[in-house]
Amino acid sequence: KKRIGILTSGGDCPGLNAAIRGVAKAAYGMMDCEIVGIQDGFKGLIEDKSWEMLPKDFSGILTRGGTILGTSRTPYKKMRKIEKDGVDKVKNMVKTYERLKLDCLVTLGGNGTHKNANLLREEGLNVVGLPKTIDNDIWGTDMTFGFHSALDVATEVVDRIHTTADSHDRVMIIELMGHKAGWLTLYAGIAGGADVVLIPEIPYDVKKVVGSLKERKKSGKDFSIIAVAEGARNMEDPKAEDPGTDGFPSVSYRIAELIQRETGMETRVTIPGHQQRGGSPSPYDRLLATNLGAYAAEMIANENYGKTVSLINNKLYATPLEDVAGKLKLVDPGIELIKNARLIGIGFGD
Ligand code: F6P
Repeated sequence: KKRIGILTSGGDCPGLNAAIRGVAKAAYGMMDCEIVGIQDGFKGLIEDKSWEMLPKDFSGILTRGGTILGTSRTPYKKMRKIEKDGVDKVKNMVKTYERLKLDCLVTLGGNGTHKNANLLREEGLNVVGLPKTIDNDIWGTDMTFGFHSALDVATEVVDRIHTTADSHDRVMIIELMGHKAGWLTLYAGIAGGADVVLIPEIPYDVKKVVGSLKERKKSGKDFSIIAVAEGARNMEDPKAEDPGTDGFPSVSYRIAELIQRETGMETRVTIPGHQQRGGSPSPYDRLLATNLGAYAAEMIANENYGKTVSLINNKLYATPLEDVAGKLKLVDPGIELIKNARLIGIGFGD
């Protein structure tokens, strides 16, 4: 009988429960197994908080957002650090794994999770990863689950901003999630018909942004929509830790102030924030998460451990955790999507 531990870690997103369900249903169907839910991610593994799950726990959760297991952020950097209370997190995690008599641990998460999963692999545990994040920035996979659901929300925000921008002849700035990677802003910006898209991978110059707005005005368009990633970088200081917000609450307020000053156009900021991570997964994410989850169960059946599932050209692969951990899949400014967006007149502030 195989004992499978499962945890979700990092920021939640729609599709986590669909993936958990995919792993469980396929595992129950393929092998004699027991599933242990680890509470709140690696924190639960450190603090030995878990419960035995039953097949019924995985029913009715396909459409449910968030994660039935709970989640937390446990930064990789601090994993090997012994805190003042003397807790050795790595040792505790190995101890919990052994106490629960697990044969493997499935970790659903983003970049931080993959680093932690690789750390546990180095410690000799059998780990299988699954790529979730609304940022779509996990190296080695074309797509992560959570991204498309967030894209639906973000695109709807950009869509809805059009009528109010038009009625008031305003510049409307929509700040979307993504500190390091601009995938969500790029996709939602183009899908929602934004005029300017600012992403961390293409540092912006406010003068260029203002130039785009003035051009639009000259051609008779009195309103403009800017989609900006929360981690968009100012060209003057592209390496800044806090990307040049200069005392403003976030990057879009800084840009709004400069635009208003330079153009005299009324400018407003909209930040949908965690709405982008909330709610039921989109059909695409339900499919992707189910598919990835079932593949992970197959990896467990084959004892193909130390790997994470990747989608490459519509096929699933098991990619070594050590190849994925510590790398980010950022937007390459040279991709066709950006080239074509420029052709239809979208400005990138560069
Ligand atoms: O990684 C997902 C993400 O939503 C990022 O896009 C965002 O920058 C971050 O998490 C927000 O984290 P938190 O929910 O911890 O504030």
